[in-house]
Amino acid sequence: MARITAGVTTSHVPAIGAAFDQALEDTEYWAPVFGGYKWSQEWIAHERPDVIVLAYNDHASAFSLEMIPTFAIGCADEYRVADEGFGPRPVPNVMGHPDLACHLAQSLILDEFDMTVVNQMDVDHGLTVPLSLMFGRTDRWPVKVIPLAVNVVQYPPPTGERCFKLGQAIRRAVASYDEDLNVQVWGTGGMSHQLQGTRAGLINKEFDDAFLDNMVENPDALRRISHFEYLRESGSEGIELVMWLIMRGALGDDVTMLHRFYHVPASNTAVGHLILKPSTRE
Ligand code: DHB
Ligand code: FE
Repeated sequence: MARITAGVTTSHVPAIGAAFDQALEDTEYWAPVFGGYKWSQEWIAHERPDVIVLAYNDHASAFSLEMIPTFAIGCADEYRVADEGFGPRPVPNVMGHPDLACHLAQSLILDEFDMTVVNQMDVDHGLTVPLSLMFGRTDRWPVKVIPLAVNVVQYPPPTGERCFKLGQAIRRAVASYDEDLNVQVWGTGGMSHQLQGTRAGLINKEFDDAFLDNMVENPDALRRISHFEYLRESGSEGIELVMWLIMRGALGDDVTMLHRFYHVPASNTAVGHLILKPSTRE
């Protein structure tokens, strides 16, 4: 049986990817950011997951305003690294797990989540920056990845409640896959940030701290956060936090926190990172 062994959430700031690609991790500005992932890199080297179901948002790289799937699941063998304007990041292509991905697509759609099936797409910083933070420099990612792209770019994005329920459905889907696989679920993006308009640069540490607390203690409180509240409290891009709720829904009721990190500044964004483990393994 496949089982979900852990969940990871992290911000996915593109400037972190640029700093990493230019080997600036030890500089004064960036050392505190990368320092928050040292424990995580050692942890994941021991955990050795087979597959990551990676909930992130595409930033108009694979999709555009011409076509905006609410939830899209990658069923391809391989994903190229997107060119976001400065050439593709110098990191390896991402290998998929088409068999598990197709199983997830079937299970989720029969479970009434109308996923868009994607057989070809490039993956952007929302997916590759978290991989770099967790696995560091490598010629080949040591894990297969099932990209799960969520629309948070064009209104209306899905609710946090819907994302949480999608996570629960992913848990059921993984548990019904016959092969013995160590699966992690990740959610990327957030925390508070606003990249545009008169409130550009907004950071809300109190909101972020409470969100980190509630990921462990009271996820039901997070499920109730409305679009309006995300916008008001966490800025226009804080809505990326709904991807964290996919991870949380996938872990089951009770979780143990293994690692928590929060740091400001990193570009325009409050960087947050959690590693959680389900209290009872599936
Ligand atoms: C930044 C953060 C993001 O999540 C993103 O997608 C783009 C930019 C930033 O902080 O600069
Ligand atoms: Fe983003």
